[in-house]
Amino acid sequence: MTNSEYTRTFKVWDTPLRLFHWLLVLAISIAFLSSDDDSPIASWHMVAGWSAAALLAFRLIWGFVGGEHARFVNFIRPTAIATHARDLLAGHPRRSVGHNPLGAIAVVALIGLTGIVIWSGSSVAAGGMDKDLHEALAYSLLALIGLHVGAVLLMSLLTGENLVRAMISGRKKNSLYPNVREARGPGLFAALLGAAAIVLAIIAIVMVDPTAFAPQQRHSHHGSHEERD
Ligand code: HEM
Ligand code: HEM
Repeated sequence: MTNSEYTRTFKVWDTPLRLFHWLLVLAISIAFLSSDDDSPIASWHMVAGWSAAALLAFRLIWGFVGGEHARFVNFIRPTAIATHARDLLAGHPRRSVGHNPLGAIAVVALIGLTGIVIWSGSSVAAGGMDKDLHEALAYSLLALIGLHVGAVLLMSLLTGENLVRAMISGRKKNSLYPNVREARGPGLFAALLGAAAIVLAIIAIVMVDPTAFAPQQRHSHHGSHEERD
């Protein structure tokens, strides 16, 4: 980005939030690609799933202490949903500096369902749940992700603003938002709390599953009788 381009934009998404987003995409992609027993990277399935869990722990804390548009109080606005949806259906979609009111529901749903998929996966691994339920939940998450990406692309087209680019650079154009100031960034204390959330989550995960972050050979549970010879 050239210097003049930079000054014609303003900060929206803080760096840890963007790292969270793209690392979560990476972790969930690896979880899906490794989910089949026959996958060449099958042993990475639980590592990917547990990594997503540590990322979620970070996001929960960040929702209280993170940068301005990362905070739950600043984007969960149930009362604004009706107006937003009406404008959208009437053909006047409105841009939002942070998440739009409808998108905020998707954010909560994505985070919540990811948590449920992880919980079900760890229950399967612990032998307390049928793998079919975990699989069905994972495919519901995949459908929600499809909806999420579709909505991001559609809103980008309708509002003439490249939302994906903003989630990469963290910045939006002043020309689209006259008089909007730089978003308030996270402080040093927030960064420490965010890091602490990740460390504590990793400790808790390793207490539950000591091999959580070591690639594990998975055994097929297709039949009730293990083959041995
Ligand atoms: C595994 C797949 C994905 C998951 C689980 C996911 C999840 C999320 C979550 C939780 C947020 C909210 C950010 C926050 O405040 O924490 C978000 C926002 C966003 N995601 Fe994704 N995402 C995924 C894939 C993608 C992909 C592939 C793209 C790009 C094509 C994308 C583009 C965006 C954008 C642009 C936003 C900001 C939306 C806005 O402007 O309000 N996401 N995503
Ligand atoms: C976002 C996270 C996750 C996603 C998207 C995901 C997805 C999936 C999918 C689609 C399957 C079905 C594979 C098949 O067709 O056989 C599966 C199986 C499984 N997953 Fe996950 N999973 C996630 C997290 C986890 C976690 C955190 C654990 C454990 C700690 C876990 C443990 C398992 C186990 C044990 C199986 C059964 C493997 C087998 O015996 O075939 N998963 N997962």
